[in-house]
Amino acid sequence: MKTARKNCWLALMLCAACIVPLTPGPGTASADSKAEPIKYIGPGSCAATSCHGSVKPIAGSRILQNEYSTWIIKDKHSHAYQALNGAIGERMARILKLGAKAEEAPKCLACHALYATPEQRGRPFEISEGVSCENCHGPASAWLGPHTTRDWPHEKSIAAGMMDTRDVLHRTEKCLQCHLGTKEKFVDHEMIAAGHPDLFFELDSFSAVMPRHWKSPRESAPGKPVEDAAWVGVRDWSAGQAVQLRAELDRLMWRAKGERFDKKDVWPEYSELSCFACHHALGQAKDSWRQEHGYIGRRPGDPAWNSSRYAVFRLLAKQIDSGNAQELDRRLAEVSDEMSKLNPDRNVVAASASAAAPLAQRIAERLATMPYDQTIVLRMLQRIPDDAEDISLADERAAEQAAMAMDSLYIAYSKDAKPANADEVRAAINELFRELENPSSYNADQFAASLRKIRTILR
Ligand code: HEC
Ligand code: HEC
Ligand code: HEC
Ligand code: HEC
Repeated sequence: MKTARKNCWLALMLCAACIVPLTPGPGTASADSKAEPIKYIGPGSCAATSCHGSVKPIAGSRILQNEYSTWIIKDKHSHAYQALNGAIGERMARILKLGAKAEEAPKCLACHALYATPEQRGRPFEISEGVSCENCHGPASAWLGPHTTRDWPHEKSIAAGMMDTRDVLHRTEKCLQCHLGTKEKFVDHEMIAAGHPDLFFELDSFSAVMPRHWKSPRESAPGKPVEDAAWVGVRDWSAGQAVQLRAELDRLMWRAKGERFDKKDVWPEYSELSCFACHHALGQAKDSWRQEHGYIGRRPGDPAWNSSRYAVFRLLAKQIDSGNAQELDRRLAEVSDEMSKLNPDRNVVAASASAAAPLAQRIAERLATMPYDQTIVLRMLQRIPDDAEDISLADERAAEQAAMAMDSLYIAYSKDAKPANADEVRAAINELFRELENPSSYNADQFAASLRKIRTILR
């Protein structure tokens, strides 16, 4: 694979000029229907040094222009295909009886590559290049040329098939297609048991880890307010939470209705449940925090619904939209009660989830556009520890969401408020992550205590 990449680089350097025509050519598609179908053309098309393949960010440019270099060197997406032909990927293919190597299986390529049919490919490119530019930015054949010309507006690119990643709601949806799954491509417990990592997500943290290859905040787009530098991460976190809950409810709905593309009928799907209800280490009865707290709302021994995408978000929803939040709470209590039975009723789950999804969407829209300030962020930093017990008992994955939330929120808060004890708080937040390192020995009481401690040292 390494050599294939190198050859690709060479080819690019030689023909950079021919790859990006500076003026729209005759074959250029526009939004009208006579245009050629829009196609994928592969990451090589973006990699010229004068386009997005600069080694360093270009000074004074709104666009960094080193996006390709960031992606190929630092971003795991460029190695997503290699995850398939590694030892774990190949073992998964055997266990799952895919009948092909993982790197040839549509079931895997759907998320681990730019998996386009031959008809959708505008020019030959290597599937081994993993999750690349057009996975997130949309097929580029119709906008590649024109978008490099002066004064070509973003809106025209969108009309020609570019994904609007600037819209935080669309952007999160895009990430979640692979990081949560859809009925056409998903990671279920069968795949997890065969070796796939469990999927979890949080937009701000995951964007930072990726890492971001864009300027954040950007300058204002025409007609839109300037993004507020201090609070972009908070907006990403909060709107991302709401979209994530909505997407999770959609997933639960199609799973309850048995709408998988392969028509296999699996219910309840274990990956919708709290993993560590089934997968935790056993010890002495007297030491069990689970027995100590009892099993609120379910029969002892039944695995609970994985409520991690709601446990923290509900606090935020209550703060900013108490009307919708109340109704959402009621609907999600129904979802949770039913999903936390050994044999959940599919119709009840589907009905409650479908009633809850639009509420989450409404809150998402509000969170994407509302202004943020230090007061709101501080209040959230306090509300999460205040709710430490419920969050910690909900699930290890809920605790993980709380840790990521405290991290994102505190980064934004401390940048603005510059508290004298920022190092102390930072260490306390790092402690949260440490307690999640070995999930099967997760201790809810200990986690709750660590979370509460942060409340006492916040300035
Ligand atoms: C719904 C999208 C999706 C599908 C389908 C999918 N994966 Fe993944 N896979 C992911 C994501 C997202 C990650 C990264 C998870 C994370 O780190 O949060 C991942 C990670 C992995 C990893 C770990 C990679 C590493 O660097 O540690 C392996 C191995 C893997 N996938 C193999 C497979 C195989 C084999 C298949 C097909 C049977 C498959 N995947 C199907 C989305 C998917
Ligand atoms: C995993 C998804 C993903 C991949 C892969 C990806 N990008 Fe991006 N890219 C994004 C997101 C998300 C944004 C910024 C969102 C926003 O507009 O605020 C972005 C922003 C950008 C921007 C800045 C746009 C602007 O208006 O500020 C450029 C340029 C860009 N990407 C180019 C590339 C290139 C070139 C590649 C391939 C080498 C690539 N991207 C791969 C998700 C991705
Ligand atoms: C086409 C599917 C796809 C899309 C869309 C996608 N990802 Fe991924 N992502 C993956 C796969 C597959 C991996 C695993 C790569 C590996 O480990 O080899 C991954 C890995 C990651 C990782 C590394 C996780 C780790 O364990 O280190 C981060 C961070 C990430 N993605 C963030 C994002 C963000 C943010 C977006 C949206 C802007 C996004 N992804 C969109 C498929 C996708
Ligand atoms: C209702 C109980 C239940 C739930 C909930 C559940 N699992 Fe499992 N899991 C099992 C069983 C049973 C097996 C098979 C174990 C065996 O045969 O040894 C298994 C197997 C596994 C394995 C392979 C075992 C190994 O030792 O490598 C992994 C990994 C795994 N599950 C992860 C998860 C994750 C992650 C979640 C949550 C997304 C989850 N499970 C949810 C019951 C459950």
